[in-house]
Amino acid sequence: MKIKYNFEFEEYESLDQISDADRQLIHKAIDSADKAYAPYSKYFVGVALSLDDGRVVTANNQENAAYPSGLCAERIAVFYANSNFPDTKIETIAITAKAENFDISEPVTPCGACRQVMAEAENRQQESIRVIMMGEKGKIYISESIANLLPLMFHAEGLKKQKH
Ligand code: THU
Repeated sequence: MKIKYNFEFEEYESLDQISDADRQLIHKAIDSADKAYAPYSKYFVGVALSLDDGRVVTANNQENAAYPSGLCAERIAVFYANSNFPDTKIETIAITAKAENFDISEPVTPCGACRQVMAEAENRQQESIRVIMMGEKGKIYISESIANLLPLMFHAEGLKKQKH
């Protein structure tokens, strides 16, 4: 048996085609990318996430000379939001990046590890998290949920099974 997975996302040609709220969030992500600490990759990621109380949390990637010790912008933002406002739901996450040596003209889509973390945050709050993805220029993608971006994710239920 073959199982087919379909997912949908919206594609926009430019920032003036998206809502004011989404555009403002992406602008905060762009500002945050300027504060990234990425001397090794020179790839500066910025994230802004909105909470359902109107608060906005921003973050950017933080690298380290011991390379795997660094962390992506998305995980810093989600962990910060969940550490400080654990009962407040995340509504939307805007992601963008700029690079020192080339133009990013494709939407920046989150890495697998960040999708796993964002997906668990989504399951935990039992409400979808929207994701806005953009490069420095060009198209914008919007997904209505993280689940959409991570089919067959690893669930906590997998840890709770009992021998019988
Ligand atoms: N990075 C992010 O912050 N988010 C992503 O979704 C992909 C990659 C960071 C990690 C590293 O600092 C740099 O971008 C290059 O991989």
